Amino acid sequence: MKITIIGTGYVGLVSGAGFAEFGHTVTCVDKDKKKIELVEKGSLPIYEPGLEEIVIRNKSSGRLNFSVNLADSVPNSDVIFIAVGTPASRRGDGYADLTYVFEAAKELAHFLNGYTLVTIKSTVPVGTARQVARIIRETNPLAEFDVASNPEFLREGEAVFDFLNPDRVVVGAETEKARNLLAALYRPLESKGVPIIFTGIETAELTKYASNAFLATKISFINEIANLCEEVGADVIDVAKGMGLDHRIGSKFLQPGPGYGGSCFPKDTKALLRIAQENGVACRIVEAVVEVNAAQRARMVRKIRQALGGSEEGKSIAILGLTFKPDTDDMREAPSLTIIPALIEHGAEVKAHDPEGINEAKRLLPQEVKFFKDKYEACRDADVVVLITDWNEYKNLDLSKLKSLMKTPIFVDLRNVFSPDVMSSAGFNYFSVGRRPIINFKTNL
Ligand code: UGA
Repeated sequence: MKITIIGTGYVGLVSGAGFAEFGHTVTCVDKDKKKIELVEKGSLPIYEPGLEEIVIRNKSSGRLNFSVNLADSVPNSDVIFIAVGTPASRRGDGYADLTYVFEAAKELAHFLNGYTLVTIKSTVPVGTARQVARIIRETNPLAEFDVASNPEFLREGEAVFDFLNPDRVVVGAETEKARNLLAALYRPLESKGVPIIFTGIETAELTKYASNAFLATKISFINEIANLCEEVGADVIDVAKGMGLDHRIGSKFLQPGPGYGGSCFPKDTKALLRIAQENGVACRIVEAVVEVNAAQRARMVRKIRQALGGSEEGKSIAILGLTFKPDTDDMREAPSLTIIPALIEHGAEVKAHDPEGINEAKRLLPQEVKFFKDKYEACRDADVVVLITDWNEYKNLDLSKLKSLMKTPIFVDLRNVFSPDVMSSAGFNYFSVGRRPIINFKTNL
Protein backbone atom coordinates (compact mmCIF):
# COMPACT_ATOMS: atom_id res chain seq x y z
CA MET A 1 0.00 0.00 0.00
CA LYS A 2 1.25 3.54 -0.72
CA ILE A 3 1.25 6.04 2.12
CA THR A 4 2.16 9.72 2.54
CA ILE A 5 2.89 11.01 6.03
CA ILE A 6 2.77 14.77 6.43
CA GLY A 7 5.03 16.00 9.24
CA THR A 8 8.31 14.29 10.12
CA GLY A 9 8.19 15.10 13.81
CA TYR A 10 8.16 12.48 16.45
CA VAL A 11 4.84 10.78 15.55
CA GLY A 12 5.29 11.21 11.78
CA LEU A 13 8.80 9.80 11.60
CA VAL A 14 8.15 6.85 13.90
CA SER A 15 4.86 5.98 12.13
CA GLY A 16 6.47 6.38 8.70
CA ALA A 17 9.36 4.08 9.57
CA GLY A 18 6.93 1.67 11.28
CA PHE A 19 4.57 1.43 8.29
CA ALA A 20 7.58 0.84 6.04
CA GLU A 21 8.64 -1.92 8.42
CA PHE A 22 5.17 -3.48 7.87
CA GLY A 23 6.00 -3.61 4.15
CA HIS A 24 4.15 -0.51 2.90
CA THR A 25 5.75 2.12 0.68
CA VAL A 26 5.95 5.37 2.62
CA THR A 27 6.86 8.94 1.74
CA CYS A 28 7.40 11.29 4.68
CA VAL A 29 6.86 14.90 3.69
CA ASP A 30 7.94 17.94 5.63
CA LYS A 31 8.05 21.61 4.66
CA ASP A 32 11.29 22.03 6.56
CA LYS A 33 13.86 21.54 3.79
CA LYS A 34 16.80 21.41 6.20
CA LYS A 35 15.16 18.67 8.23
CA ILE A 36 14.52 16.55 5.14
CA GLU A 37 18.09 17.06 3.91
CA LEU A 38 19.43 15.95 7.28
CA VAL A 39 17.17 12.89 7.45
CA GLU A 40 18.24 11.98 3.92
CA LYS A 41 21.83 12.02 5.20
CA GLY A 42 20.84 9.76 8.08
CA SER A 43 20.74 12.42 10.80
CA LEU A 44 17.38 12.21 12.63
CA PRO A 45 15.74 15.27 14.19
CA ILE A 46 14.81 13.33 17.35
CA TYR A 47 16.59 10.91 19.66
CA GLU A 48 14.56 7.72 19.82
CA PRO A 49 16.08 4.30 20.56
CA GLY A 50 15.91 1.94 17.56
CA LEU A 51 14.57 4.56 15.15
CA GLU A 52 17.75 5.21 13.21
CA GLU A 53 18.13 1.52 12.52
CA ILE A 54 14.66 1.06 10.98
CA VAL A 55 14.88 4.35 9.08
CA ILE A 56 18.18 3.32 7.47
CA ARG A 57 16.99 -0.21 6.75
CA ASN A 58 13.74 0.86 5.08
CA LYS A 59 15.35 3.75 3.24
CA SER A 60 17.89 1.47 1.62
CA SER A 61 15.19 -1.04 0.67
CA GLY A 62 13.32 1.82 -1.07
CA ARG A 63 10.22 1.53 1.13
CA LEU A 64 10.86 4.77 3.01
CA ASN A 65 11.33 8.04 1.13
CA PHE A 66 11.50 11.67 2.12
CA SER A 67 10.35 14.77 0.29
CA VAL A 68 9.50 18.43 0.74
CA ASN A 69 6.84 18.22 -1.93
CA LEU A 70 3.32 16.89 -1.45
CA ALA A 71 3.02 16.65 -5.24
CA ASP A 72 5.66 13.89 -5.26
CA SER A 73 3.58 11.31 -3.44
CA VAL A 74 0.02 12.46 -2.63
CA PRO A 75 -1.45 11.73 -6.11
CA ASN A 76 -0.31 8.08 -5.90
CA SER A 77 -1.14 7.47 -2.24
CA ASP A 78 -3.90 5.21 -0.93
CA VAL A 79 -3.71 6.73 2.53
CA ILE A 80 -2.40 10.10 3.71
CA PHE A 81 -1.62 10.68 7.36
CA ILE A 82 -1.57 14.15 8.87
CA ALA A 83 0.99 13.95 11.67
CA VAL A 84 1.97 17.60 12.07
CA GLY A 85 2.41 19.26 15.46
CA THR A 86 -0.52 20.61 17.47
CA PRO A 87 1.26 22.75 20.05
CA ALA A 88 -0.62 24.40 22.90
CA SER A 89 -1.90 27.69 21.56
CA ARG A 90 0.25 30.71 22.35
CA ARG A 91 -2.67 32.32 24.13
CA GLY A 92 -2.08 29.86 26.98
CA ASP A 93 -5.79 29.10 27.18
CA GLY A 94 -5.60 25.32 26.75
CA TYR A 95 -6.53 25.35 23.06
CA ALA A 96 -4.53 23.11 20.74
CA ASP A 97 -3.14 25.17 17.85
CA LEU A 98 -4.51 23.55 14.68
CA THR A 99 -2.88 25.88 12.16
CA TYR A 100 -0.52 23.19 10.82
CA VAL A 101 -3.28 20.57 10.56
CA PHE A 102 -5.54 22.87 8.55
CA GLU A 103 -2.68 24.06 6.35
CA ALA A 104 -1.75 20.46 5.56
CA ALA A 105 -5.41 19.67 4.70
CA LYS A 106 -5.63 22.62 2.34
CA GLU A 107 -2.37 21.83 0.59
CA LEU A 108 -2.92 18.11 0.16
CA ALA A 109 -6.41 18.73 -1.24
CA HIS A 110 -4.90 20.12 -4.45
CA PHE A 111 -3.04 16.90 -5.21
CA LEU A 112 -5.69 14.26 -4.51
CA ASN A 113 -6.10 11.92 -7.42
CA GLY A 114 -8.67 9.13 -7.26
CA TYR A 115 -10.13 7.83 -3.98
CA THR A 116 -7.80 8.64 -1.06
CA LEU A 117 -8.19 8.22 2.69
CA VAL A 118 -7.00 11.21 4.72
CA THR A 119 -6.25 10.13 8.28
CA ILE A 120 -5.47 12.38 11.24
CA LYS A 121 -2.72 11.06 13.52
CA SER A 122 -1.93 14.32 15.29
CA THR A 123 -3.68 14.68 18.66
CA VAL A 124 -6.59 16.96 17.83
CA PRO A 125 -9.71 18.18 19.60
CA VAL A 126 -12.98 16.39 18.96
CA GLY A 127 -14.48 17.61 15.70
CA THR A 128 -11.18 18.36 13.94
CA ALA A 129 -11.36 15.47 11.46
CA ARG A 130 -14.74 16.74 10.25
CA GLN A 131 -13.30 20.24 9.91
CA VAL A 132 -10.46 18.78 7.85
CA ALA A 133 -13.02 17.07 5.59
CA ARG A 134 -14.78 20.41 5.13
CA ILE A 135 -11.52 22.16 4.21
CA ILE A 136 -10.59 19.49 1.65
CA ARG A 137 -14.08 19.62 0.11
CA GLU A 138 -14.00 23.42 -0.12
CA THR A 139 -10.50 23.45 -1.61
CA ASN A 140 -11.10 20.67 -4.11
CA PRO A 141 -14.85 20.01 -4.58
CA LEU A 142 -14.19 17.17 -7.03
CA ALA A 143 -11.88 15.21 -4.73
CA GLU A 144 -12.92 11.68 -3.90
CA PHE A 145 -11.90 11.03 -0.29
CA ASP A 146 -12.83 10.01 3.23
CA VAL A 147 -11.46 11.32 6.48
CA ALA A 148 -10.53 9.10 9.45
CA SER A 149 -9.02 9.50 12.90
CA ASN A 150 -6.24 7.17 14.03
CA PRO A 151 -4.58 8.53 17.19
CA GLU A 152 -1.16 7.34 18.33
CA PHE A 153 -0.36 6.10 21.82
CA LEU A 154 3.45 6.13 21.55
CA ARG A 155 5.67 6.89 24.52
CA GLU A 156 8.82 8.86 23.86
CA GLY A 157 11.83 6.66 24.39
CA GLU A 158 9.75 3.55 23.61
CA ALA A 159 8.08 4.86 20.47
CA VAL A 160 9.46 2.31 18.01
CA PHE A 161 8.57 -0.59 20.30
CA ASP A 162 5.11 0.89 20.95
CA PHE A 163 4.42 1.36 17.24
CA LEU A 164 5.37 -2.21 16.40
CA ASN A 165 3.75 -3.71 19.53
CA PRO A 166 0.79 -1.54 20.55
CA ASP A 167 -1.79 -2.57 23.18
CA ARG A 168 -4.46 -1.56 20.66
CA VAL A 169 -5.06 0.44 17.51
CA VAL A 170 -8.01 2.84 17.53
CA VAL A 171 -9.52 3.73 14.17
CA GLY A 172 -12.35 6.22 13.77
CA ALA A 173 -13.69 5.63 10.26
CA GLU A 174 -17.21 5.84 8.98
CA THR A 175 -17.27 4.24 5.52
CA GLU A 176 -16.63 0.64 4.49
CA LYS A 177 -13.85 1.75 2.13
CA ALA A 178 -12.04 3.70 4.84
CA ARG A 179 -12.32 0.85 7.37
CA ASN A 180 -11.05 -1.67 4.82
CA LEU A 181 -8.02 0.45 3.93
CA LEU A 182 -6.99 0.95 7.55
CA ALA A 183 -7.63 -2.70 8.36
CA ALA A 184 -5.30 -3.66 5.48
CA LEU A 185 -2.70 -1.16 6.67
CA TYR A 186 -2.65 -2.66 10.16
CA ARG A 187 -2.99 -6.31 9.04
CA PRO A 188 0.56 -7.16 10.25
CA LEU A 189 -0.47 -6.10 13.76
CA GLU A 190 -3.88 -7.75 13.62
CA SER A 191 -2.29 -11.04 12.67
CA LYS A 192 -0.09 -10.76 15.79
CA GLY A 193 -3.27 -10.53 17.87
CA VAL A 194 -3.29 -6.74 18.44
CA PRO A 195 -6.92 -5.56 18.83
CA ILE A 196 -7.95 -3.07 16.14
CA ILE A 197 -10.94 -1.11 17.38
CA PHE A 198 -13.21 0.55 14.83
CA THR A 199 -15.24 3.47 16.12
CA GLY A 200 -16.88 6.68 15.01
CA ILE A 201 -14.58 9.61 14.28
CA GLU A 202 -15.37 11.66 17.42
CA THR A 203 -14.98 8.55 19.58
CA ALA A 204 -11.46 7.93 18.29
CA GLU A 205 -10.51 11.57 18.82
CA LEU A 206 -11.80 11.53 22.40
CA THR A 207 -10.24 8.13 23.21
CA LYS A 208 -6.80 9.70 22.84
CA TYR A 209 -7.51 12.56 25.26
CA ALA A 210 -9.31 10.29 27.73
CA SER A 211 -6.36 7.86 27.76
CA ASN A 212 -3.76 10.55 28.41
CA ALA A 213 -5.93 12.26 31.02
CA PHE A 214 -6.47 8.95 32.82
CA LEU A 215 -2.73 8.17 32.91
CA ALA A 216 -2.06 11.70 34.20
CA THR A 217 -4.75 11.09 36.83
CA LYS A 218 -2.94 7.98 38.07
CA ILE A 219 0.26 10.02 38.45
CA SER A 220 -1.35 12.93 40.30
CA PHE A 221 -3.26 10.46 42.47
CA ILE A 222 -0.13 8.60 43.58
CA ASN A 223 1.70 11.91 44.09
CA GLU A 224 -0.99 13.01 46.55
CA ILE A 225 -0.87 9.64 48.28
CA ALA A 226 2.94 10.00 48.45
CA ASN A 227 2.55 13.35 50.17
CA LEU A 228 0.16 11.77 52.65
CA CYS A 229 2.62 8.90 53.22
CA GLU A 230 5.29 11.43 54.20
CA GLU A 231 3.02 12.90 56.85
CA VAL A 232 1.75 9.63 58.36
CA GLY A 233 5.04 7.69 58.11
CA ALA A 234 3.90 5.23 55.41
CA ASP A 235 5.94 4.03 52.43
CA VAL A 236 4.38 4.93 49.07
CA ILE A 237 6.30 2.24 47.17
CA ASP A 238 4.61 -0.44 49.24
CA VAL A 239 1.27 1.33 49.05
CA ALA A 240 1.53 1.45 45.22
CA LYS A 241 2.57 -2.19 45.13
CA GLY A 242 -0.33 -3.18 47.36
CA MET A 243 -2.74 -1.25 45.16
CA GLY A 244 -1.23 -2.23 41.81
CA LEU A 245 -1.49 -5.98 42.37
CA ASP A 246 -5.25 -5.57 42.16
CA HIS A 247 -5.77 -6.17 38.43
CA ARG A 248 -8.57 -3.64 38.37
CA ILE A 249 -6.05 -0.95 39.37
CA GLY A 250 -2.83 -2.17 37.69
CA SER A 251 0.69 -1.34 38.79
CA LYS A 252 1.73 0.97 35.96
CA PHE A 253 1.85 4.77 36.23
CA LEU A 254 1.86 4.66 40.01
CA GLN A 255 5.40 5.94 40.43
CA PRO A 256 5.43 9.11 42.47
CA GLY A 257 7.83 11.88 41.50
CA PRO A 258 8.13 15.56 40.63
CA GLY A 259 4.95 15.49 38.50
CA TYR A 260 4.38 14.59 34.87
CA GLY A 261 5.96 16.59 32.04
CA GLY A 262 6.54 16.16 28.32
CA SER A 263 4.78 17.30 25.21
CA CYS A 264 1.60 15.33 25.83
CA PHE A 265 0.11 15.07 29.34
CA PRO A 266 0.38 18.78 30.26
CA LYS A 267 -1.00 19.87 26.87
CA ASP A 268 -3.65 17.18 26.49
CA THR A 269 -5.13 17.48 30.01
CA LYS A 270 -5.58 21.22 29.44
CA ALA A 271 -7.01 20.68 25.96
CA LEU A 272 -9.50 18.14 27.37
CA LEU A 273 -10.63 20.69 29.95
CA ARG A 274 -11.13 23.20 27.16
CA ILE A 275 -13.19 20.72 25.10
CA ALA A 276 -15.29 19.91 28.17
CA GLN A 277 -15.85 23.58 28.95
CA GLU A 278 -16.91 24.33 25.39
CA ASN A 279 -19.44 21.54 25.60
CA GLY A 280 -20.77 22.64 28.99
CA VAL A 281 -19.50 19.56 30.83
CA ALA A 282 -17.58 19.64 34.12
CA CYS A 283 -14.35 17.58 34.19
CA ARG A 284 -13.49 18.25 37.83
CA ILE A 285 -11.17 15.27 38.22
CA VAL A 286 -8.94 16.40 35.34
CA GLU A 287 -9.00 19.96 36.73
CA ALA A 288 -7.64 18.62 40.02
CA VAL A 289 -5.04 16.51 38.18
CA VAL A 290 -3.61 19.64 36.55
CA GLU A 291 -3.56 21.57 39.86
CA VAL A 292 -1.96 18.70 41.78
CA ASN A 293 0.75 18.42 39.14
CA ALA A 294 1.71 22.09 39.49
CA ALA A 295 1.64 21.86 43.29
CA GLN A 296 3.91 18.79 43.22
CA ARG A 297 6.71 20.76 41.55
CA ALA A 298 6.49 23.48 44.19
CA ARG A 299 6.56 20.79 46.86
CA MET A 300 9.79 19.38 45.39
CA VAL A 301 11.46 22.79 45.82
CA ARG A 302 10.35 22.82 49.47
CA LYS A 303 11.73 19.30 49.88
CA ILE A 304 15.17 20.42 48.64
CA ARG A 305 15.02 23.39 51.00
CA GLN A 306 14.15 21.11 53.90
CA ALA A 307 17.06 18.79 53.00
CA LEU A 308 19.39 21.79 53.20
CA GLY A 309 18.10 22.65 56.66
CA GLY A 310 15.70 25.42 55.68
CA SER A 311 17.30 27.58 52.98
CA GLU A 312 18.98 27.17 49.62
CA GLU A 313 20.54 30.65 49.77
CA GLY A 314 24.26 30.45 48.87
CA LYS A 315 24.16 26.65 48.55
CA SER A 316 25.66 24.66 45.71
CA ILE A 317 23.03 22.31 44.26
CA ALA A 318 23.94 19.56 41.78
CA ILE A 319 21.11 18.42 39.53
CA LEU A 320 21.16 14.98 37.93
CA GLY A 321 18.71 14.73 35.02
CA LEU A 322 17.00 17.58 33.19
CA THR A 323 14.76 15.95 30.55
CA PHE A 324 11.11 15.22 31.37
CA LYS A 325 11.94 11.50 31.55
CA PRO A 326 14.90 9.28 30.63
CA ASP A 327 15.88 8.11 27.12
CA THR A 328 14.89 11.32 25.40
CA ASP A 329 16.45 14.74 24.84
CA ASP A 330 13.01 16.31 25.19
CA MET A 331 12.84 19.13 27.71
CA ARG A 332 9.24 20.17 27.07
CA GLU A 333 7.38 20.84 30.34
CA ALA A 334 10.19 19.06 32.21
CA PRO A 335 9.90 19.42 36.02
CA SER A 336 13.52 20.70 36.00
CA LEU A 337 12.29 23.81 34.17
CA THR A 338 10.23 24.88 37.19
CA ILE A 339 12.38 23.48 39.98
CA ILE A 340 15.77 24.94 38.90
CA PRO A 341 14.64 28.56 38.33
CA ALA A 342 12.93 28.49 41.75
CA LEU A 343 16.17 27.36 43.41
CA ILE A 344 18.17 30.08 41.63
CA GLU A 345 15.61 32.68 42.59
CA HIS A 346 16.22 31.73 46.21
CA GLY A 347 19.97 32.27 45.88
CA ALA A 348 21.26 28.78 45.05
CA GLU A 349 24.12 28.02 42.69
CA VAL A 350 23.03 25.24 40.29
CA LYS A 351 25.29 22.77 38.48
CA ALA A 352 23.58 20.34 36.14
CA HIS A 353 24.18 17.10 34.28
CA ASP A 354 22.04 15.23 31.77
CA PRO A 355 23.07 12.50 29.31
CA GLU A 356 21.11 13.92 26.34
CA GLY A 357 19.28 17.10 27.32
CA ILE A 358 22.02 19.68 27.85
CA ASN A 359 21.80 21.38 24.44
CA GLU A 360 18.09 21.92 24.79
CA ALA A 361 18.39 22.81 28.49
CA LYS A 362 20.90 25.58 27.75
CA ARG A 363 18.22 27.36 25.74
CA LEU A 364 15.55 27.00 28.38
CA LEU A 365 17.19 27.36 31.79
CA PRO A 366 18.53 30.56 33.39
CA GLN A 367 22.03 31.45 32.23
CA GLU A 368 23.39 31.09 35.78
CA VAL A 369 23.13 27.28 35.49
CA LYS A 370 26.50 25.59 34.89
CA PHE A 371 26.40 22.44 32.76
CA PHE A 372 28.73 19.44 33.10
CA LYS A 373 29.46 16.54 30.78
CA ASP A 374 30.60 14.39 33.70
CA LYS A 375 28.04 13.66 36.39
CA TYR A 376 30.61 13.44 39.17
CA GLU A 377 32.12 16.79 38.21
CA ALA A 378 28.66 18.34 38.50
CA CYS A 379 28.49 17.00 42.08
CA ARG A 380 31.94 18.20 43.18
CA ASP A 381 31.70 20.42 46.30
CA ALA A 382 27.90 20.29 46.19
CA ASP A 383 25.87 20.85 49.35
CA VAL A 384 23.16 18.59 47.95
CA VAL A 385 22.60 16.36 44.92
CA VAL A 386 19.08 16.33 43.49
CA LEU A 387 18.10 13.54 41.10
CA ILE A 388 15.21 14.78 38.92
CA THR A 389 15.24 12.32 35.99
CA ASP A 390 15.81 8.59 36.47
CA TRP A 391 18.34 7.89 33.69
CA ASN A 392 19.78 4.40 33.99
CA GLU A 393 23.31 5.73 34.40
CA TYR A 394 22.33 7.36 37.71
CA LYS A 395 21.13 4.05 39.11
CA ASN A 396 24.71 2.77 39.33
CA LEU A 397 26.29 5.86 40.90
CA ASP A 398 29.44 5.08 42.88
CA LEU A 399 28.09 6.31 46.21
CA SER A 400 31.40 6.41 48.09
CA LYS A 401 33.00 8.39 45.26
CA LEU A 402 30.00 10.73 45.24
CA LYS A 403 30.18 11.23 48.99
CA SER A 404 33.89 11.98 48.89
CA LEU A 405 33.35 14.66 46.22
CA MET A 406 30.47 16.49 47.91
CA LYS A 407 30.74 19.19 50.55
CA THR A 408 27.92 17.59 52.54
CA PRO A 409 26.46 14.17 51.65
CA ILE A 410 22.81 15.12 51.18
CA PHE A 411 20.84 13.40 48.43
CA VAL A 412 17.33 14.31 47.28
CA ASP A 413 15.94 11.56 45.08
CA LEU A 414 12.80 12.80 43.31
CA ARG A 415 12.32 9.44 41.52
CA ASN A 416 12.91 7.03 44.40
CA VAL A 417 15.75 5.38 42.49
CA PHE A 418 17.72 4.38 45.59
CA SER A 419 16.82 2.30 48.60
CA PRO A 420 16.77 4.29 51.84
CA ASP A 421 18.77 1.49 53.55
CA VAL A 422 21.55 1.68 50.95
CA MET A 423 21.71 5.47 51.21
CA SER A 424 21.73 5.30 54.98
CA SER A 425 24.64 2.83 55.05
CA ALA A 426 26.48 4.99 52.53
CA GLY A 427 26.25 7.84 55.05
CA PHE A 428 23.91 10.17 53.21
CA ASN A 429 21.05 12.24 54.49
CA TYR A 430 18.49 10.94 52.06
CA PHE A 431 15.16 12.46 51.03
CA SER A 432 12.82 10.79 48.55
CA VAL A 433 9.13 11.03 47.59
CA GLY A 434 6.51 9.42 49.81
CA ARG A 435 9.01 7.78 52.15
CA ARG A 436 10.49 8.71 55.50
CA PRO A 437 13.68 10.80 55.18
CA ILE A 438 16.96 9.26 56.40
CA ILE A 439 18.87 11.61 58.66
CA ASN A 440 22.44 10.53 59.42
CA PHE A 441 23.68 13.94 60.56
CA LYS A 442 22.31 17.32 61.53
CA THR A 443 22.33 20.02 58.84
CA ASN A 444 23.50 23.41 60.04
CA LEU A 445 22.57 26.46 58.10
C1 UGA B 1 2.51 9.80 26.90
C2 UGA B 1 1.69 8.51 26.93
O1 UGA B 1 2.27 7.58 27.86
C3 UGA B 1 1.62 7.86 25.55
O2 UGA B 1 0.76 6.74 25.59
C4 UGA B 1 1.07 8.90 24.56
O3 UGA B 1 1.02 8.38 23.24
C5 UGA B 1 1.97 10.12 24.55
O4 UGA B 1 1.98 10.68 25.89
C6 UGA B 1 1.39 11.10 23.57
O5 UGA B 1 0.26 11.56 23.77
O6 UGA B 1 2.01 11.30 22.52
P1 UGA B 1 5.13 10.38 26.97
O7 UGA B 1 4.72 11.82 27.07
O8 UGA B 1 6.19 9.99 26.01
O9 UGA B 1 3.86 9.46 26.58
O10 UGA B 1 5.67 9.95 28.38
P2 UGA B 1 5.24 8.98 29.57
O11 UGA B 1 6.17 7.84 29.62
O12 UGA B 1 3.81 8.69 29.58
O13 UGA B 1 5.58 9.94 30.81
C7 UGA B 1 4.95 11.21 30.96
C8 UGA B 1 5.38 11.86 32.24
O14 UGA B 1 4.81 11.19 33.36
C9 UGA B 1 6.89 11.85 32.49
O15 UGA B 1 7.27 13.12 32.99
C10 UGA B 1 7.10 10.77 33.51
O16 UGA B 1 8.23 10.95 34.30
C11 UGA B 1 5.81 10.89 34.32
N1 UGA B 1 5.45 9.64 35.03
C12 UGA B 1 5.10 8.53 34.33
C13 UGA B 1 5.41 9.62 36.41
O17 UGA B 1 5.72 10.63 37.08
N2 UGA B 1 5.02 8.48 37.05
C14 UGA B 1 4.68 7.35 36.38
O18 UGA B 1 4.34 6.34 37.05
C15 UGA B 1 4.73 7.38 34.99
